[in-house]
Amino acid sequence: MLKEKYQAEVDAILARYPAEWKRSAVMPLLYLAQKEYGYLSAEAMAEVGALCGLAATDVAGVVGFYSLYHDHPAGKRRVQICTDLPCALRGAEAFAAELLAKLGVQWEGTTADGEFTVEHVMCVGACDKAPVFQIQDGSGIHFYESQSAQEPLTVAQALDILNGLKGK
Ligand code: FES
Repeated sequence: MLKEKYQAEVDAILARYPAEWKRSAVMPLLYLAQKEYGYLSAEAMAEVGALCGLAATDVAGVVGFYSLYHDHPAGKRRVQICTDLPCALRGAEAFAAELLAKLGVQWEGTTADGEFTVEHVMCVGACDKAPVFQIQDGSGIHFYESQSAQEPLTVAQALDILNGLKGK
């Protein structure tokens, strides 16, 4: 349980906000829970909700809104490809389909070696550089995009990037 294992951290987070607004602590508490559990299960969301006075459904709404929170387990790295409309119009869906095939997975699937889980992501603010994807892992979040509209990122380049990360 977070409260027992990270009492000082939880207390410090809650102390940032007036007692009547402790619900405002939901995001840093979710971050702490995700760091501890690897993803945010229904139990973890309920735990965070109990700490900051929010219903588990409200916590789940926050988790569902942000691509940096995860409600299911994954491989070592999450490869999140933007398939939102502007990127789709620039070939993101075909890019994703080919990359999924090369990796041998479906959407939300994890490669056999456990390295990569491929997920959709909504707009990451690089619509003019589609195809674009981001990788989330223990070291943070990393963005990869086309050099220009004339030089779209290729699946071969994406595979080079992924292969370069393996074992690290
Ligand atoms: S729609 Fe993909 S980055 Fe904006």
